[in-house]
Amino acid sequence: MTKVRIGVTYPLPGPALDWLGQRFEVAIRDPEKQTFQQWLEQEGPSLQGLITLLSDPMDAAALAKCPQLKAVANYAVGYNNIDVDAARTNGIQVINTPDVLTETSADFAWALLMAAARRIAEGHQLTRDGQFTGWEPELLLGQDVYGSVLGIIGAGRIGQAVAARARGFSMTVLYHNPTRLSAELEHDLNLQFVELEQLLTQADFLSLHCPLTPETRHLISTDELQKMKPTSILVNTARGPVVDELALVDALRQGVIAGAALDVYEWEPAITAGLQELPNVVLAPHAASASRSTREKMAWMVAEDVAAVLTGKPPQNPVP
Ligand code: DGY
Repeated sequence: MTKVRIGVTYPLPGPALDWLGQRFEVAIRDPEKQTFQQWLEQEGPSLQGLITLLSDPMDAAALAKCPQLKAVANYAVGYNNIDVDAARTNGIQVINTPDVLTETSADFAWALLMAAARRIAEGHQLTRDGQFTGWEPELLLGQDVYGSVLGIIGAGRIGQAVAARARGFSMTVLYHNPTRLSAELEHDLNLQFVELEQLLTQADFLSLHCPLTPETRHLISTDELQKMKPTSILVNTARGPVVDELALVDALRQGVIAGAALDVYEWEPAITAGLQELPNVVLAPHAASASRSTREKMAWMVAEDVAAVLTGKPPQNPVP
């Protein structure tokens, strides 16, 4: 009897794929040898299960290359790279990795916020370059975090975890969501719901945690940036296209806002022209969930859930 075949578009950390390989026939793409598209062309027709990265475009055309597919598990909490409607139409269960990366990602959003506020990246570069010639009263003056106003767009799991950390900094935390959280949660997290306009005008730090949807694409563009304080800092660990990056570059050049810290990019992995030259931007390579422990747990989640679907059991993390 032919074994059920599962494709994995990139080698994943930890033992989960070995475990999967003991139960199913597993085809792991070698990124040195084949592009995702070449590999999908070759392997797609024989796959019943598929584990993808957030950078693999699983649109209707890509799904059509996998006529036997029963489950596609995205090694990420965000799944904007998958056409969920097309998957549903074709009877394919979409799976993601929520919760496990919440705290790791919230830590990282804070690391970026602090780095931009206190100009850590600039200081690091200056010190490495041998330019630190002694303590100076006006060297790399930044923004205070303690006691300031944090604005969160998208107070879901990660946004809430970011808010929880703000307590230690005695911050006022404002948030905006399409649907308001329960009064209990707002109280527990010390969160105040405000309209977007108010969030933009009052936040010292604006941190984005919403999913990428047609509604949130370019949610932050010229008009929104103009409403922000000239001393404010934008942090994006959500998805690049939530920010209109050309508008952001203009705003940063003209001092409309003081700085930005980005983990994700509109044209990822390409970086919008201008961002790399601006000293007031901290750039990270989409690494918010990148702790070893989290990434290994994410691998277990996708492996176990694909295995579940292919053995007729319900997955733990189905995308509705
Ligand atoms: C996600 O999971 O969506 C992050 O962007 C990467 O872990």
